[in-house]
Parts: sequence; structure tokens; C-alpha cells
Amino acid sequence: MNVEQYKKLVDELIELLDEGVYIVDKAGVGIHYNSAMARTEKLDAGEVLGKKFHEVFPEFKRGESTIYKALIKNQRTRTDQQTYKNIYGKEITTENDTIPVVVDGETVAAIEVSKDITEIRSMSDTLLKLREEALKQETPVQAVPGIRSYTFEDIYGENEQFEAVVNRAKKASSNDASVFIYGETGTGKELFAQSIHNMGKRSGKPFLAQNCAAIPESLLEGLLFGTTKGAFTGAVDRAGFFEQANGGTLLLDEISAMPYDLQSKLLRVLQESYIRRVGGSKDIPVDVRIIATVNEAPEELMAKGLLRRDLYYRLNVINISIPPLRERKDDIELMAEKFMEKSNKRFEKQVWMISDKALKKLKAYDYPGNVRELENIIEQAVSMADNEHVLTEKLLNMPDTRIKGEPPIRYSEGMALDEYLGSLEEKIIADEMLKANGNISKAAESLKIRRQTLQHKLKKYGIK
Ligand SMILES: Nc1ncnc2c1ncn2[C@@H]1O[C@H](COP(=O)(O)OP(=O)(O)OP(=O)(O)O)[C@@H](O)[C@H]1O
Ligand SMILES: [Mg+2]
Repeated sequence: MNVEQYKKLVDELIELLDEGVYIVDKAGVGIHYNSAMARTEKLDAGEVLGKKFHEVFPEFKRGESTIYKALIKNQRTRTDQQTYKNIYGKEITTENDTIPVVVDGETVAAIEVSKDITEIRSMSDTLLKLREEALKQETPVQAVPGIRSYTFEDIYGENEQFEAVVNRAKKASSNDASVFIYGETGTGKELFAQSIHNMGKRSGKPFLAQNCAAIPESLLEGLLFGTTKGAFTGAVDRAGFFEQANGGTLLLDEISAMPYDLQSKLLRVLQESYIRRVGGSKDIPVDVRIIATVNEAPEELMAKGLLRRDLYYRLNVINISIPPLRERKDDIELMAEKFMEKSNKRFEKQVWMISDKALKKLKAYDYPGNVRELENIIEQAVSMADNEHVLTEKLLNMPDTRIKGEPPIRYSEGMALDEYLGSLEEKIIADEMLKANGNISKAAESLKIRRQTLQHKLKKYGIK
């Protein structure tokens, strides 16, 4: 293959990629520029190819460009976030990986691969700004407007094991140690975290919560530690959650979703009590109590490499492990009654009792969505009631397949294979829908089936 053919091959290859690709030769002259890159930068390949890098992008100071670092200093720059203006003056943010290409000890080219994260970036900026404003306006306890804050009085349950957990949590509020909460979805982790904060001496200070799974990995660091207006990155000066929550409590939900590298940075912050904004060089002292949560067993998360052992030990000074509702069914009656009272007020109804049959049905179920699911079932039942004072079985809208006592997973003799497989499928889908909070696209994604297929199956099994 001659050089021309080879160049064509590379061109075709990089055109296939979703990421932007820009390649310069050793003199810094553009030799490849794919259309993904052109879309991001709003440039034509013709404006870039055959021209020197710093002629096309004059605003980059030579010493600071990653292309320059690769060509002259032979340095690789990984997942570096850059914010810059394209030729129309529109600010764009990309995540880049830039490498020198070295042949026989000589750098002959530099390749930059770039992902456009402009939208995600502006989303995270807006989020931080909103929180900043909310913090300025609201009293510190109500850090997030519209979200009520909980105390231990809102935690129902008299089950022996559960009460022991509540008592541990109450003790935790009198000190400053990190808290690690493990509990399945809907077991009340947020409830516990807020109660610990509100009963302790930090209660007059902010309580901030961030779900680590809800934010793209590349932005989480800036969100937590803040960003600095760098001459080069173009990022704005903004305090992160650590600074915003100073003196108060920061709840880090699903900490196992935090990238491994960031987990070690977090560990350092916890040990040294100061943070450094992304792109900054100043150490800023912070005093923040951390409450971290996971919804899978920590040992399993560590075995899977999702949770750093050293971070876990550092956070796990106080360990709160909330048992799932199916392991404290003796509390179902009490909880159902409490939720019924609450719903009566909310919907202006007068349902004062639960029938025996309804209670039996409630107790037979295994609640993959835990207390949240029970609360929803009762809320729905009360809202559907007309003038009756008794909550009867017919008001309960809950999956039937799992209240026959045994979960459908068990195969019993004489069962038709189709029926058995169907019941399996139904349970898997119902569980996944709960996990995804009813979001069909999300559930379809985790089940690796098409959205339409899932919709069809939801209809078939009557899952809502
Ligand atoms: N012991 C409890 N007493 C009263 N309400 C409870 C209890 N546990 C949970 N709840 C209610 O269940 C709902 C879910 O609770 P919460 O948001 O704290 O759960 P979570 O463990 O954080 O769930 P997720 O993992 O999905 O974030 C809330 O409405 C909460 O008030
Ligand atoms: Mg939660």
C-alpha cells in the first residue's frame, strides 16, 4: 500500500468514529480532521487541513495546548477537559485525549481524540449555580427548596433489629464521624442521613446531597470540589459542594458509582480536610461531615472493584445497615397505618382501618422497592377510596404474582414451561422497573432489550 492509499484508509477509519479526531504532523500541520470534530468545532476540514495548528486556533497559548505538549514535549494528556470558543465565538467543552506518535525515537505526529461534552458541561454549571442561589436564599436546613427535611420522628418501625439500627444512627448525630449507610432502594437511607444531620450540632448548617450515579463521571469532580477559572480551560470560578456544604453535611449517594480515581481523591480530602478546586492550586480548608450510601453489600462492591477498600474503611466509622422491609414484616401493619393517616390528610379521606384480608395481602408481599413501595401502595389505595372507612383488599393495587406466598422463581412439578419462564420474566421486569423508578427507557437499557419490546411485555404482564 502506498502512502496515499494508507492515508485514505486512516481517513475512512476515523470517519467511522463518533469522537472527533484531529491529527497533525511534526510541524503541527493538520493532516486528518474527521467530520465529528468538524461538527463540534463548526469548522470545515478545508479550514484545518494543511494549516498549522496555531494558525487555526490562535487563542491557544503555545505552551498550554495539548497538541503542543504532545509534539514538543512528547507528553500524553488524558481526558483533559477544555473549554474554548469556536470561530463563531460559541463556547464548547470537550474531553480530550492527546498522544504523541513516536517512530524510532522521533515524534512524527500528534493525535487528538475529542468528545463533545458542551451540553453536559453547561448542565453541571447550571446545577451548581442553582444550588449556590438556593443556599443563599434558603435557611440552611432547607438547602434544597421544596424538599422537606426529615427527623428521627419521621422514621417508623419497632422491629427489634430495626430499632437497634435507629439507635446507632441517633448516637451518630452527637458526633462528627463519617457514616456509611447500606440499604436496598427505598429502605430510608436519605431519611436516616437527614435525621442524623438535623439532630446533630450541624443542623443549622447546609445539608447537601449528591447521587454519584446521576452525574457523568467527568463532571463529578468539578461538582464536588469546584472549578477554577483557568487561562486555558476557560472554566468559571465556582465553589463545589464541599465548599457549599462547609460546616454542614454532604450526603454522597451511591458512592460506588464514583470513578475509582476520584474515590482516592475523596479519601485524601477526608484525611487532610482541605480541597483543591479543579484546575486550581490553592488548598481550601473544609469542614464537612460525609454520609455515604450504597444499595448493594459493600463487600460485594469491593470485590467487583467498584468501591475502594481504603475509602470504605475511612467512611465506615459509623456503620448503618438498614434491613430490607421483607426482613421486618412485623412492622408492616404499623407502617401501613402511619402511611394511611398521612394519606388521609393529603387526600382528605377517612380511611381508618385495614381489613384483615388486606393486611394479609400486604404482609405476604416481598417489597423489592421496600418502604417506598409500601408507602406508594397505601397512598394509592387511600386516594382511590370513596367514602369507605376500611381499607379493603380491592383497594390494593399490587403485583399478584408474588403474594401467593412463594416467589415465582421456584419451579414446581406440573408447571408448564412457558408459564414458568413467563413468571420469571415478569419478576425480572417488575424488579427492573422498580429499580429504574418506572423509567421504561432506563429499564430497557439495563435489560438490554428494545424499549418497544419492554413496553409490549409490560402490557402483557400488566406491570405499571
Ligand atoms: N422507616 C421508615 N419510616 C417512614 N418512612 C420511611 C421509612 N423508610 C423509608 N421511608 C419512606 O420511603 C421513601 C424512600 O425513602 P428514602 O428516599 O430515604 O430511601 P433510600 O434508601 O434513600 O432509597 P434510594 O436508594 O432509592 O435512594 C421516603 O418517602 C421515606 O419517607
Ligand atoms: Mg436515596
